[in-house]
Amino acid sequence: MREVCEIAASVLADLCSEVKPGVTTYDLDQMGKRLIEERGAVSACYNYKIGSKRYPAYTCISVNEEVVHGIGSLKKVLRAGDIVSVDVSVEFNGFIGDNAKTVVIEPVADEIRRLVKVTEEALYKGIEKARPNARVGDISHAIQVYVEGKGFSVVRDFVGHGVGRSIHEEPQIPNFGRPDTGPKLRRGMTLAIEPMVNLGSSDVEYAEDEWTVITVDRKPSAHFEHTVLITDEFAEILTIPKKIAC
Ligand code: MF3
Ligand code: CO
Repeated sequence: MREVCEIAASVLADLCSEVKPGVTTYDLDQMGKRLIEERGAVSACYNYKIGSKRYPAYTCISVNEEVVHGIGSLKKVLRAGDIVSVDVSVEFNGFIGDNAKTVVIEPVADEIRRLVKVTEEALYKGIEKARPNARVGDISHAIQVYVEGKGFSVVRDFVGHGVGRSIHEEPQIPNFGRPDTGPKLRRGMTLAIEPMVNLGSSDVEYAEDEWTVITVDRKPSAHFEHTVLITDEFAEILTIPKKIAC
């Protein structure tokens, strides 16, 4: 898990540094594929099956009102003012690492810069609660209270998750909930904690491609994710790149 998460983190950092005006989200996805394969890993998203559908891209690139699972498209050209959520899930030696971050293309509106900052901070509020004998609801509650206290909303239809040999394992980790509820956390668990935060309403729906999740009010959304390991006394963040690129 340490090895794969470091790969996932370095791919994410390198890919985020390619987010600039004029680049299409298709280009970004192809760069993501190359960065993953250069490291001897494979995308955990490509061909990922939910029901009868299979995910057709190598990374998830979600722009503005797109929340998660955006599919790179030649028609989507990035420009100033956009916020871009980049989600990289990779498999290496049979294990999966999952991480995401939202980057902005300046100049952006102040409220968007705030949305992104609060989402990242909310991730750390959740991670702080992840420790042995705490419960999933402690993480969920910390994220929800922080986000709503800043005037934004948490997405309820998609959640964080355990991660290991499969990308989505138990337990589910909602970004809303009550303290001291849900499964107990234990040493050795690896979890993907991932607040998805909307500027407006928390309601989301699927776009026409049946994968991309978008806000119903079409206001922007941000997303940050780390894979963490529950140790003896706290959570260690595994998806930290050795070299910071963005
Ligand atoms: N990091 C994404 C998640 O946890 C990966 C999704 S794979 C996809 O939901 F195929 F659904 F894109
Ligand atoms: Co995830």
